[in-house]
Amino acid sequence: MKAKIGTSILTADFANLGAAFKMLERHPVIGYIHMDVMDGHFVPNISYGAPVVKSLAAATGLAFDVHLMIAEPERYAKDYLTPNTEFIVFHAEAVDDINRAANYIKSLGVKCGAAISPDTPVCALADALDILDQALVMSVYPGFGGQSFITTSPEKIIELYRLRRERGLSFKIGVDGGINRANISDVIAAGADIITVGSALLSAEDPEAELIAYTEIIEGGEKA
Ligand code: DX5
Ligand code: ZN
Repeated sequence: MKAKIGTSILTADFANLGAAFKMLERHPVIGYIHMDVMDGHFVPNISYGAPVVKSLAAATGLAFDVHLMIAEPERYAKDYLTPNTEFIVFHAEAVDDINRAANYIKSLGVKCGAAISPDTPVCALADALDILDQALVMSVYPGFGGQSFITTSPEKIIELYRLRRERGLSFKIGVDGGINRANISDVIAAGADIITVGSALLSAEDPEAELIAYTEIIEGGEKA
């Protein structure tokens, strides 16, 4: 299964998102628009909320991977149900019962994901992997785009890949933060399925050329 790219729009030019979506829609390597929702409590930044996500659903046919970097994600998850919403991903650190949160999100009729921040070990998700549809490895500390990739992140991807194979599970492995041409091969080799790229793509000099380069790397680098 070839990896797909999720494009984080956090650092995009929101005044020209329609044109960006049209460009992204031309490239099959794009699997998702990655929606970074931040509340200023769980992370020290505020981004955008449900009204923006809902309005963007009318602007593209691309699937949404909604990344909730918020406190009380179960309270707000239903607000992010749109025709495009494929995943709603909460943070393991934001809930006291990962399985409960995951089951609730699934009850909304969408796929559920749980993210682990850099200081949270993979074992925090161990008891939920059989119900999760995505396990998201944060390769930066959540809260801001444009940060540097934490180079130990592939180790968590490798561990999730091993657990998935050993247990015969089928959750997707996501990675998010600081991904660019220099490190995307590392996360592909480690086994990532959904690779979120923000500033390295939409803030690139030529985003379409960047996408073509990512496509070639992904086509050539699938984990055995
Ligand atoms: C960070 C977000 C990431 C980030 C990705 O908290 O979850 O999705 O915006 O952007 P880059 O690729 O610029 O790190
Ligand atoms: Zn994100």
